[in-house]
Amino acid sequence: MGAGRSDLDLDSGLGLGRYPAVRMRRLRSDAAIRRLVAESALSVSDLIWPVFVKDGPGDLREAVAAMPGVFRLGLDALAEEAARAAALGIPAMAVFPATEPSLKTADGAEAENPDGLVPRALRVLKSAAPEVLAVADVALDPYTTHGHDGVLDSRGRVANDETVEILTRQALVLAAAGADIVAPSDMMDGRAGAVRRGLECAAGGRFRDVKIMSYAAKYASGFYGPFRDAVGSAASLAGGDKRTYQMDSANLREALREMALDLEEGADMLMVKPGLPYLDVIREASRAFPAPVFAYQVSGEYAMLKSAAAAGCLDERACVLESLLCFKRAGARGILTYFAPQAAGWLRE
Ligand code: PBG
Repeated sequence: MGAGRSDLDLDSGLGLGRYPAVRMRRLRSDAAIRRLVAESALSVSDLIWPVFVKDGPGDLREAVAAMPGVFRLGLDALAEEAARAAALGIPAMAVFPATEPSLKTADGAEAENPDGLVPRALRVLKSAAPEVLAVADVALDPYTTHGHDGVLDSRGRVANDETVEILTRQALVLAAAGADIVAPSDMMDGRAGAVRRGLECAAGGRFRDVKIMSYAAKYASGFYGPFRDAVGSAASLAGGDKRTYQMDSANLREALREMALDLEEGADMLMVKPGLPYLDVIREASRAFPAPVFAYQVSGEYAMLKSAAAAGCLDERACVLESLLCFKRAGARGILTYFAPQAAGWLRE
């Protein structure tokens, strides 16, 4: 063996460990070898599909202006989309309400209404597609007149502990309506623990298996713009921002602290949001914690890809599938994406 090696070195000048003994392109030379050496993969099992629901005619499909292909769905339309998700093999859907403005109050009381839009939507989803996991946000912004995720104190600041009490009751309402996963997206301190305690203490242990997917590292981001239009919280927020509770985009170490706390408090899964601009956070989180980390490819990311594709600047299918695969490479266990049904269709072909 030693002789062979020196033969190589002497006769052909072939130094091991460098070109031409090493040719990186060998492992890219055809589709089968590329498949064999791929380090990550995207499958339909990685997808969570966020949808918007609205009261009105059951067959309502109201276009969301900045999100071509996304609609506010009436509950019959939701049932159809849930059946579509099941047929495509999408494992989970997340429902977000476009709340009737007349139902919004300063304290977001509608969030606790057991017959509110989201609880009804969860029941429709679970009866149309029992095998599809139902995910529901825990936060007050769809229900407050001021558009914040919590209630305000006398000085107009978002009041943490008072909000956490309401969120805990909201989570119980969502669980009772059939949510398999509750997803606190409010960024109050201590809410994961409070929600977990609430679920554990429910009579008869009936919510013990309800999962918490915590929006643990949720940044104060400009990329939520189209979502806020879709649910009608942009108008309520009236130019305000959420910087006293959502994270500063400058910070990574702080995200790891947030995530460690949420896991200790009883969160089962973690989320990083937005997605593509925060791949480093996903990477670090997936290395640091032995818990599934999800990425949310948010409304603004969807809008960017859609409008660039519509303008003829990008190949939509190639860029969407690439962006989703890159989340997996970064360490995400799965992705919330408005492209879920489209991507699921492409992955089948
Ligand atoms: C509400 C919530 C937001 C999103 C998910 N849940 C918006 C916000 O925090 O203002 C954003 C999702 C998206 O942009 O696609 N707490």
